[in-house]
Amino acid sequence: MSEPKDPAARASDLRAQIEHHNDLYYHKAAPEISDREFDALLRELQDLETAHPDLATPDSPTRRVGGRPLEEFAPAKHLVPMQSLDNTYSPEELREFVARLHKLAEGRQLHFTIEPKVDGVAISLLYQHGRLVRAATRGDGSTGDDVTQNVRTISNIPHRLNGHPPARIEVRGEIYLPKSVFASLNTERDEERPPPFANPRNAAAGSIKQLDPAITAARKLAAVFYGSGAWEGDQPTTGHGLLESLEQWGLPIPEKILEAADAESVVSAVESLGGIRHDFVYETDGAVIKLDSLALRREFGSTAKAPRWAIAYKYEPERAETLLLDITIQVGRTGTLTPVAELQPVFVSGSTVARATLHNEEEIERKDIRIGDTVLIEKAGEVIPAVVEVKKERRTGTERHFHMPATCPSCSTPVHKDGVAWKCTNPTCPAQVRRRIEHFASKQAMDIEGLGEALVNQLVDASLLASIADIYSLEKPPLLALERMGEKSAANLLAAIDTSRSRPLWRLLNGLGIPHVGVTSARDLASHFHTIDNLKSADVPTLLAIHSIGDIMAQAIHSWFQSPQNLALLESLHTAGLNFGERDEPAAPADNRLTGTIWVLTGTLSISREEASDIIRRLGGKVTGSVSKKTTHLLAGDEAGSKLDKAKDLGIPVITEEEFRSLAG
Ligand code: IVH
Repeated sequence: MSEPKDPAARASDLRAQIEHHNDLYYHKAAPEISDREFDALLRELQDLETAHPDLATPDSPTRRVGGRPLEEFAPAKHLVPMQSLDNTYSPEELREFVARLHKLAEGRQLHFTIEPKVDGVAISLLYQHGRLVRAATRGDGSTGDDVTQNVRTISNIPHRLNGHPPARIEVRGEIYLPKSVFASLNTERDEERPPPFANPRNAAAGSIKQLDPAITAARKLAAVFYGSGAWEGDQPTTGHGLLESLEQWGLPIPEKILEAADAESVVSAVESLGGIRHDFVYETDGAVIKLDSLALRREFGSTAKAPRWAIAYKYEPERAETLLLDITIQVGRTGTLTPVAELQPVFVSGSTVARATLHNEEEIERKDIRIGDTVLIEKAGEVIPAVVEVKKERRTGTERHFHMPATCPSCSTPVHKDGVAWKCTNPTCPAQVRRRIEHFASKQAMDIEGLGEALVNQLVDASLLASIADIYSLEKPPLLALERMGEKSAANLLAAIDTSRSRPLWRLLNGLGIPHVGVTSARDLASHFHTIDNLKSADVPTLLAIHSIGDIMAQAIHSWFQSPQNLALLESLHTAGLNFGERDEPAAPADNRLTGTIWVLTGTLSISREEASDIIRRLGGKVTGSVSKKTTHLLAGDEAGSKLDKAKDLGIPVITEEEFRSLAG
């Protein structure tokens, strides 16, 4: 990099940019530039500060690890600071790293381990006498956010360690969103709540920074551990031994750990890890190379920011260049028109990609994407194909601008702008009807095996299906007239349809396609109202009393049940014999310990409110949304607000979570 004219001005400009991107990354979980671009800024600043030591300031971002804790969480001071790692993108620098350590080792033998660098959110767990007492994010390295409540909801994190752990230990690792969960979370969010998360790391960071543990719990996060902070008592002698101990205590560790004893085998281990990383359950953005001997780690120590005994090698994000052949429009089940890039098929991150969503018109304008462009494709979170960049220098002048159509490509109804999305508002639009039927029959809804996109299209084309209700009047003879439909498949389909009549209520609620209602809210609605009739008559305030239901969703549910068309659909489904909740397994009271009690839940609990409510109902109690004279118990978690005050005013007994646990056994 050539020396800038005014190094002081450049340094201050770089600092401002770095602060800005740090804030986006650490606090808003919405980065605008890649890690590589960020590292380039930081490096440029480091180089400037090295060349002009007078420009270095004590609070320069080159001397800090990352973000500051969020204000909403209690601060948690790490017993041993959480450092970060130096990054490199070049095998040459890896060799230099090994050579540096050899020099420090003065002839002593060195062993290295090579682990996946998990792209998640760094976490430190404090266990005392084997019990999880605190979980904290990294924050500024010395103080993070206390996210214990959220972390307790992560299913592969033990609340108690097995065996004989030290009296006090900090274990360090990463919280991540499994790639498969990221993929389904994005499909669930795509239509109703754009924009979807950019990648699993953002989804994990966004989830762990929820002040509401119930939301974290619903996100199916997981964790993996690779190191330690404070450790009271005898420590193992190697990194390997350390990981073995973690595993014995029941903590998940990286699924693949390679070994190497010299620079060349380090480089090839890093390459071979790169070759298999797409098969890991978590997203990896690199490999971490560590010296195995803990004694040498202590001896070699750290710089201000990072240990000398470890380094992170970042893989190039896998990108492929291809031609954007066309932009087509997909009409979703709620009428949203989504532009889709039709690509010349290309292999990237483990599979062939031929289509990628372009989200909306603004996204196309922002990236200046034109039909005929050469584009770079990347898979967000190694799963979802996305157009990341247009190769403008490759334009020939024959590329065409894309314009959203003025009418729906399926039914020709004029389209309307709704936020960033264009929508077809014709409820009988054939494309919407197809997508609605498909959604109704999908795995996450009524789970009607065989009734996927292809068959739905065939049935709609043959005029055998025009609405969800028609599914239940399908008969064998017309089915047999369809192409590729034999006696056996027709019988299987009809049997699958019949089975779906008894599916639990939450599946039906999800399948109906009520705007904003997804699996989680459908489950909550079912467990709260038990039947469609109860739900149908619920007003907005009653809906709002359910924990996971906010304003927009409550309004949407209420108005869905006001539409004569929807009521007619329900009527037909009822006549067709579908379970409207009456046939759901009653969550039979396990005993009647709480019969006659009326509970209100408030504040943050370590389990979700729906779980707590289920427990109360199983024990014969009732759960309501607001405190009144009829309330007999208030279950108050942390940071309980006005409900707690009101309960105290009315003299209603306040139960802590601890007391609730012993009450409920
Ligand atoms: S070791 C002293 N091992 O990457 C720091 N870190 O960019 C020891 N990370 O701060 C960290 N996978 O949050 C280590 N296998 C792994 C890792 C890993 C992901 C994270 C960690 C670290 C960051 C550095």
